[in-house]
Amino acid sequence: MLLERRSIRAYRTTPVAQALLHEVVRSARLAPSGANLQPGAFIAVQGEVRRALSADLVQAWRNKQTEAEDYSYFPSPMPMALKRRQMGSAKALYDALGIAREDRVGRDAQFERNFHFFDAPVALVVTIAHDLGSGCYMDLGMALYGLMLAAHAKGLSTCAIGAMASYPSLIRRHLGLDGTSKIVCGMALGYADPDAPVNQTRTERSELGEYFKTLG
Ligand SMILES: Cc1cc2nc3c(=O)[nH]c(=O)nc-3n(C[C@H](O)[C@H](O)[C@H](O)COP(=O)(O)O)c2cc1C
Repeated sequence: MLLERRSIRAYRTTPVAQALLHEVVRSARLAPSGANLQPGAFIAVQGEVRRALSADLVQAWRNKQTEAEDYSYFPSPMPMALKRRQMGSAKALYDALGIAREDRVGRDAQFERNFHFFDAPVALVVTIAHDLGSGCYMDLGMALYGLMLAAHAKGLSTCAIGAMASYPSLIRRHLGLDGTSKIVCGMALGYADPDAPVNQTRTERSELGEYFKTLG
């Protein structure tokens, strides 16, 4: 299962049964967490809330609006070794789509798809309470991976959407949340469209020796 999961960025319109979604989210919650704190929450956005949220996110992005993010994700500046990995994942994505490196319009169009949750039948916004420590992000990350794998086991696919974290205030406003909820990321979930070129994206991982050592 771990070998098969990939981020999926195009979905069939087939809806996901509510009971199945609940089962997947419950499975994600079986993830371990320090002192069993179980931090974080998943908010499914649908109907008019989802439509208006996506429309505003796209508009904000097109207008080059910026907001202070709730938490810092990427290092700034990005160390060269990580920059290479970042560029590798972008190349994998744009190669699958046949978008050339200098095709800014094509790349922007794909980036906008983030704000539509890739048109997945299920759109989740992932939040965490503002007063938790950094370790709780680790706990929530485990729950997110649990969600991805539980979904995969049920024939569903997912893609985490960190791009959402660029507009925390906008998202809070649409979801009726106050400042006690930090916006961590979005998550698309649904049945993969096997014919979509974007779903042919294949990423690589660094060699074992780069991140695993045996001492003594
Ligand atoms: C927390 C998180 C945030 C991500 N944010 C985005 C995103 O905003 N847009 C996107 O297209 N992919 C996003 N991804 C997917 C990564 O690009 C992807 O996991 C990585 O390239 C490895 O590919 P794989 O998931 O297919 O193995 C995100 C993944 C994670 C775990």
